[in-house]
Amino acid sequence: MQFDPSENRICQLFRIEKPVIQAGMIWASGWRLAAAVSNAGGLGIIGAGSMYPHILEEHLREMQTATGRPYAVNLPLLYPDIDKHVELILKYKVPVVFTSAGNPKIWTPVLKAAGITVVHVVSSTKFALKCQEAGVDAVVAEGFEAGGHNGREETTTLCLIPEVRKAITIPLIAAGGIGSGRAMFAVMALGAEGVQIGSRFVCSEEASSHINFKNAVLNAGEGDTQLSLKQLTPVRLLKNDFYKLVSRAEQEGASPETLNELLGRGRAKKGMFEGDLSEGELEIGQVSAGIREIMPAAAIVEEIWDEFLTTCSQPFKSYGTVKA
Ligand SMILES: Cc1cc2nc3c(=O)[nH]c(=O)nc-3n(C[C@H](O)[C@H](O)[C@H](O)COP(=O)(O)O)c2cc1C
Repeated sequence: MQFDPSENRICQLFRIEKPVIQAGMIWASGWRLAAAVSNAGGLGIIGAGSMYPHILEEHLREMQTATGRPYAVNLPLLYPDIDKHVELILKYKVPVVFTSAGNPKIWTPVLKAAGITVVHVVSSTKFALKCQEAGVDAVVAEGFEAGGHNGREETTTLCLIPEVRKAITIPLIAAGGIGSGRAMFAVMALGAEGVQIGSRFVCSEEASSHINFKNAVLNAGEGDTQLSLKQLTPVRLLKNDFYKLVSRAEQEGASPETLNELLGRGRAKKGMFEGDLSEGELEIGQVSAGIREIMPAAAIVEEIWDEFLTTCSQPFKSYGTVKA
């Protein structure tokens, strides 16, 4: 099976060989992971959401020597020091920025004026259209299965992608629940032109996530994650003691203020970076149930890509043979 990147709009847009994008993830995706994925022919993303500006600068400096290939920075737009992050992105001539969690209208023109390719992450067709109007170059449509922050609408990837595909004309990347080449095939069949993968890369050797967290993901089974904190910012979490505390408070009718107090500061760092599996916040997607091994990031890209290409040449094998 031959794949021609010149016929794929995502490969063209980012100048990459395979339309496989490693998601920006707080406390997991630093320069090591992003460089490994970019060097494997995909697009690696540095997750700036957990980085002070001086930390982001360190990662950008390392990235310049770790890869000569295209890469991106994920910029959650709610971040308080966003203007400092944008300054660094311009200084280091970052070629691609994935914005999320905010309004793309404000920063898209600034980034585009500097020649940067801009992509925004959404969880609904309505916001995909807004992104297109705001002038972004591509959209990531992320379904309910995904790890991390998520939409309130609870639309699954399987239902979201075809609707967004019908609504927008710019390139479309699917996210949420994709951990294999077969899953990639499924969303490409629905109209996506590339995939953004988060949870699977948490269990890569290069991810900066704590080994306790990686092992907890390996042990997760079906039903072990849940969308939580819907009154604040909905986030899919692994069910641990912290999750149970929040869940009990929500059932007892806790106000957003009480939930905010429960959350406190630094929960995500505590869980995902420091490895406190009881008190920390552990963001991960439903696909964790199928992740069974910590692998080098390049091997994850290769495995997904090979399975995708094989599935393209024999997609209906599980049904038996379909004759033309
Ligand atoms: C540990 C973790 C941290 C994440 N942090 C961010 C983030 O900082 N910014 C963002 O836009 N999305 C974040 N996400 C969502 C991912 O970028 C991605 O869209 C999602 O993981 C895709 O779904 P999947 O987990 O099923 O692969 C995070 C996801 C995980 C698992």
